[in-house]
Amino acid sequence: MSALHGKKILLGITGSIAAYKAASLVRLLIKAGAEVQVLMTAAATDFITPLTLATLSRNKVHTDVASGDSWNNHVEMGLWADAMVLAPLTATTLAKLSHGICDNIIAATYLSARCPVFFAPAMDLDMWKHPATLENVGRLKGFGNQLIPVGTGELASGLIGEGRMAEPEAIVKVLSGHFAYAQSLKGKRVLVTAGPTYEPVDPVRFIGNRSSGKMGIAIADELNARGAAVHLVLGPSALSPSRPGVEVTRVGTAREMYKAATEVFGRCDAAVLAAAVADYRPAEAADQKIKKEGEEMSLRLIRNPDIAAALGQTKAAHQRLIGFALETQNGLENAKAKLARKNLDLIVLNSLADTGAGFNHDTNKITLLSKGNKKREFELKFKTAVAVDIVNALQDLWG
Ligand code: C5P
Repeated sequence: MSALHGKKILLGITGSIAAYKAASLVRLLIKAGAEVQVLMTAAATDFITPLTLATLSRNKVHTDVASGDSWNNHVEMGLWADAMVLAPLTATTLAKLSHGICDNIIAATYLSARCPVFFAPAMDLDMWKHPATLENVGRLKGFGNQLIPVGTGELASGLIGEGRMAEPEAIVKVLSGHFAYAQSLKGKRVLVTAGPTYEPVDPVRFIGNRSSGKMGIAIADELNARGAAVHLVLGPSALSPSRPGVEVTRVGTAREMYKAATEVFGRCDAAVLAAAVADYRPAEAADQKIKKEGEEMSLRLIRNPDIAAALGQTKAAHQRLIGFALETQNGLENAKAKLARKNLDLIVLNSLADTGAGFNHDTNKITLLSKGNKKREFELKFKTAVAVDIVNALQDLWG
């Protein structure tokens, strides 16, 4: 069965000669089992009739925010869709969307849509290469919308070059790839820990570390994007996941993180422990602010529970456990030792010696070490891309 089966697709057609290809796109989507609603700009109706698209989509086609005495609810349509596809997307509508200008049904629905948006531009080669167009494409990509690249060939103007709308088959392939990916971890439940922990010294001071939580949050988002149910136990971090489907429990101390993590692990198929948990905490946290007295003061520290080791002890045969090792020296040996000591299936080593890796950066450079000491080294990448590599490795562990 196609991954598009039962999916609700909102197709926005704008005024380009390529609009005629939208008819085959609708046919292919319907054939794959999708439900399709078509929106058109007024200019699009000069190239292909709403009647053609209504017949093929088996749905009414909307060309205006208001028509006659009724109002087409763009908010409702935006919420209805599992994906919005803009094909063909002209330079004009691209420019409008990239700046939030909302003067037609497609722009209004685009701004209301919560689903992933795909866009397949179509224009002449010089328009396509113009810095204004490139900037607008970049802006849409920056909003998280996915570009379906233009093709090269003969254009309506007679010129030859880049700017043709992607073929309907290619658009359908991108969409079914998206839905297949979005379901690849359906049915799995994963615990992720992220961020630092703060261990109180008194009501105003704490012992903490420089972890931002970025890596673990990126992993939680990536797991959820593949359809997994995700429990993120997050230490004090200014950040939060971008996907609303991630269930977040905010904690402060290592002991709170331990409690939250051990409570949910039993129901999970895996845990990815990316948090930088404080190994020690002050033996007593003072009730009142500690006053300055004398030239020296000392703090007695005691060990915190090791969450990874505790989960490693209770781990069932179907469960997988991934830990992190942030090392400043002897990275590989330390990581190997942790892998065995904590009963992990995989350890992610990042070394502070690598520029751009570790705490607070947007990038990271990792080495994955699995049981049996199989080692895989990766390039420096954005943490979102590193998260893809780590989740791929988890998927491999499940086989
Ligand atoms: O031993 P070390 O702290 O370097 O191990 C790092 C790994 O163990 C990380 O995955 C970290 O999240 C986890 N850890 C933990 N609980 C602790 C200390 C570390 O879960 N108290």
